[in-house]
Amino acid sequence: MPKEKPELSDAMKAKMRRKTPEKNPIKGTKFTIAVSSAKGGVGKSTFATNLALALKKVGCKVGLLDADIYGPSVPKMLGINEKPKSDGEKLEPVVKYDLQCMSIGFLTDQQTPMIWRGPMVTSAIKTFTQKVNWKDLDFIIVDMPPGTGDTQLTFSQEIKIDGAIIVSTPQEVALLDVIRGIKMFDKLGVNILGLVDNMSFFIGDDGKKYKIFGEGGVKKTAEEFQKKFLGEIPINSEIGRCGDEGKPIVESNTDHEISKIYLDFANMIKSTYL
Ligand SMILES: Nc1ncnc2c1ncn2[C@@H]1O[C@H](COP(=O)(O)OP(=O)(O)OP(=O)(O)O)[C@@H](O)[C@H]1O
Ligand SMILES: [Mg+2]
Repeated sequence: MPKEKPELSDAMKAKMRRKTPEKNPIKGTKFTIAVSSAKGGVGKSTFATNLALALKKVGCKVGLLDADIYGPSVPKMLGINEKPKSDGEKLEPVVKYDLQCMSIGFLTDQQTPMIWRGPMVTSAIKTFTQKVNWKDLDFIIVDMPPGTGDTQLTFSQEIKIDGAIIVSTPQEVALLDVIRGIKMFDKLGVNILGLVDNMSFFIGDDGKKYKIFGEGGVKKTAEEFQKKFLGEIPINSEIGRCGDEGKPIVESNTDHEISKIYLDFANMIKSTYL
């Protein structure tokens, strides 16, 4: 499958590792990687979940923190129905496919909409970062909600984020939001690892490549803002199907050509930090 392999020079890796200002690291975790995009529905949760599983497949100890308080996706994507255990003081992460996971969806009834106000979101994020017994993790992958709101602010200002990956689709309207996302992280001093172009093309039954949402926009935006373009992921119905069944593609079909793309991303991140 034609794609841009996320290979980086040593100089670029050193730049990506550069120290962020002193903020609280998440206890029990070496590196915190946020998956973000100001735009909704571009595939952040799908990317975060498959990236976490891919990092595990390449030998890392990984946690997945669902920071989407208004619309958690991790319980459904990983097929988790159990509640985390608590000793009254700390929460134990729920372990699935060898990932340590936490989501507001483990604690609330998922069918009932929650009315959250800003301070409640902030306090949920603090609980997830300070009161969960994350254990010996190399990486924690944070699945951010859409937007540039309280969650992004709380994380960026209070938690040590070692790198943020911005996921986008190639439409102009998505890119406008991506630019807002880039500016927010830059302003808050969060190190942006790079941009990922998700759903960038579709391969039809005729074998032809269809650029449904336009072409090259994410790469161009990356260049414009001097960020790294990390690569592209095509539209593939298997990605959605596996996610809906609670066993993401990297876990259910590790040899699939799409899984290999996530594994390339995982190897790039592993070699950057470890
Ligand atoms: N590369 C892809 N090919 C096909 N379907 C995809 C791809 N990436 C994501 N999807 C599908 O797109 C939908 C939205 O994905 P996802 O929930 O990951 O987006 P999101 O950015 O996290 O959304 P939100 O902003 O609501 O949190 C899902 O149904 C998912 O299965
Ligand atoms: Mg999501």
